[in-house]
Amino acid sequence: MIGRDLLGIEDLDRDEIERILETAEHMREVSNREVKKVPTLRGRTIVNLFFESSTRTRASFEIAGKRLSADVINFSPSTSSLKKAESILDTARTLDAMDPDAVVVRHSVAGVPHRIAEVLEAPVVNAGDGAREHPTQALLDLFTVIQEKGRIDGLTVAIVGDILHSRVARSNIYGFSKMGAEVRVAAPPTMIPPFIESFGVKAFTSLREALDGADVVMALRIQNERLTGSFLPSVREYSNTFGIDRAKLNFAKEDAIVMHPGPVNRGVELSHDLTDHRPSVILDQVRNGVAIRMAVLYLITGRRRRSVAAPQEDGGDA
Ligand code: CP
Repeated sequence: MIGRDLLGIEDLDRDEIERILETAEHMREVSNREVKKVPTLRGRTIVNLFFESSTRTRASFEIAGKRLSADVINFSPSTSSLKKAESILDTARTLDAMDPDAVVVRHSVAGVPHRIAEVLEAPVVNAGDGAREHPTQALLDLFTVIQEKGRIDGLTVAIVGDILHSRVARSNIYGFSKMGAEVRVAAPPTMIPPFIESFGVKAFTSLREALDGADVVMALRIQNERLTGSFLPSVREYSNTFGIDRAKLNFAKEDAIVMHPGPVNRGVELSHDLTDHRPSVILDQVRNGVAIRMAVLYLITGRRRRSVAAPQEDGGDA
């Protein structure tokens, strides 16, 4: 994976996903040490280019880079020359000219990390683009399920909520399917994309049916910032029908775990009780995000893609 972009789980095969998960196992061990730092990426530079808000992803990429001894730069759009009308691509090219070893991009518009990747020398990691993909979230979710269940193959995973607007749903559908799980989605009909079953998943508008026999229940955030038009009669009705609490969790297997990518709208997608207590594994997901992002940064920045040009003898013009 050295020098490659990581733009989506769609582009990875099962072997590549397993390689990242195995590498993350080693990285988790580093995070468990008293001194949580190794010199592996000393001399490497990682740029975090987040055009959309983030707590978990941005902080964990920064911590991941620092635990591997890379220099991590957090680009802040609100104080950058974007405010002077510099374009996103010119901004990305400008940062690339400073020769980073990887650029991590989040944007609210699907496809922006792909467009940036086309013009940059440095490999690009997609940290979430619109409703398209959030590959490192899916990787940390797979990693968390393996930690809990010991495997993915043969499990039944029910993803509940705003499937239409969710990049987490899309990446997890690819990830869990490629790793051998049965994936189901459950939502009001307006939040299920047309042709979703062509992704190999089963779609349900009944939560009870979707959760029947599920090993993993993944609740998704209601994304108010991406909801346009009337997708929901009301948040209260959504919560009554699709919000997961202990009573509704009884539809799933007795030992089912509950996941959520965060941030949680407490009392909407998940009850307060399930947000804070097992069988929810939300903070394990966050913790595992560091190990996964360490693995991804390590695997793609093992060697610089750009070859260093020899100095010119005549020096050229200034
Ligand atoms: N899960 C996730 O992407 O969270 P943040 O938006 O806080 O990064």
